[in-house]
Amino acid sequence: MKERLVPLSLWAEQRGIPGSTARKMAEEREIPARKLGRYWYVVEEVEEGSGQGRVLTLFNHAGGVGKTTLARDLGFELASRGHRVLLVDVDPQANLTQWLGLGPVEEKDTLLTLTGGVLPEPKEAYGMHVIPSSLRLAVLDVKLKSVPAGELLLRRKLQAVREAYDFILVDSPPSLGPLSFLAGLAGEGFIVPVETTAKGLQGLEGVMEVSELYATAVGAANFIRLLVPTRYDPRSRTAQEALEGVLSLGKRFPVAPPLHERPGPFRRSAAERVPIHMVDGAQEAVREVQAIADALLKVAQEVEA
Ligand SMILES: Nc1ncnc2c1ncn2[C@@H]1O[C@H](COP(=O)(O)OP(=O)(O)OP(=O)(O)O)[C@@H](O)[C@H]1O
Ligand SMILES: [Mg+2]
Repeated sequence: MKERLVPLSLWAEQRGIPGSTARKMAEEREIPARKLGRYWYVVEEVEEGSGQGRVLTLFNHAGGVGKTTLARDLGFELASRGHRVLLVDVDPQANLTQWLGLGPVEEKDTLLTLTGGVLPEPKEAYGMHVIPSSLRLAVLDVKLKSVPAGELLLRRKLQAVREAYDFILVDSPPSLGPLSFLAGLAGEGFIVPVETTAKGLQGLEGVMEVSELYATAVGAANFIRLLVPTRYDPRSRTAQEALEGVLSLGKRFPVAPPLHERPGPFRRSAAERVPIHMVDGAQEAVREVQAIADALLKVAQEVEA
C-alpha cells in the first residue's frame, strides 16, 4: 500500500464538513493528517499506482498555452492518487522548477548532465520527483547540436528509469530548437494543451503535422495521446467556437474536459509556488484538473490493454 495526500479543504468538502471543523480535527489528530508548508493534507492509503512508466511530453510550440501549469497540476493530482510521478523541466525559462519552489538549482541538477551520459538525481517537491531546470539549460540547446542523435539522449535515459515511476511528465519549451526535440522525443507521445482561441486552434494544425514526424522518428503509429483545451472562457463566442473545433477532433484523438480561464487562482499558485490544489478558493480549477487526470488515466489504460 502507498500513501496519498488529499488537500484538507477537498477532503472536508467531499464529506460536507465545514473547513474550520476539518482543520480542528487535523490539528487534534482525530484524522491522519500532515502539514506541508501552510497546508494540511489528509493521509489515505491507496493501492500502488498502475500507470507503469508512461512517459508523456506536454507539447505545443505556442507559448503560454498552459503546458507548465498542466505539468505541475496533473503531476500533483496523479501523485496525490498514489502514482509515482517524475516531472522533467526541459525549459530554460524554468517556470516549472520555480513554481514548485525548487532552488537554487545547480548545473549538475539539470539535464546539462545528459551530455556526460547521466540523468541528474531528481529533487523532491510535493510528493513528486522533479528534474529541475535553470537558465543555464539554454547551453544544452547549443551542445546538443554537436552530439550525434543528441535529441534522443533524454529518451534513452528515461527508458532506463521508467520502471521506478508510473508517470513521467516532460515539460517542453515553446521553441523549435534541439531542446524542443529532446523533450518531444522523450517518451511515447504528447499531451497537447490547446488554448481555446482561434490562434490556439490554428496552432494545433501545426502540432498535428509535426506529431506525425515524431511518430515516424520513433516508429509509433500516433503520437498525440491527449488534447486538453485550456484557458476556456465560456462567455466568449470565439472560445466556444475554438472548443467546438477541438472537440470535433475527438474521433481522431482523445480530448479531455477543458480547463477554464481562472486568472486569480493560477496567478496565486505561481506566486505562492504551490500546485493549484493548495490555493485557497481554487476548488473549481482543482475539479477540472481531476477530470483531466481521469481522462489521462483512461487513455493510459486503453493503451496498456
Ligand atoms: N486556466 C488558466 N487560467 C488562467 N491563467 C492560466 C491558466 N493556465 C495557465 N495560466 C497562466 O498563463 C500563463 C502561461 O501558462 P504556462 O506557463 O503554463 O504556459 P506554457 O505553455 O507553459 O508557456 P511557455 O510556452 O512560455 O512555457 C501563466 O502565467 C499561467 O499562470
Ligand atoms: Mg512552460
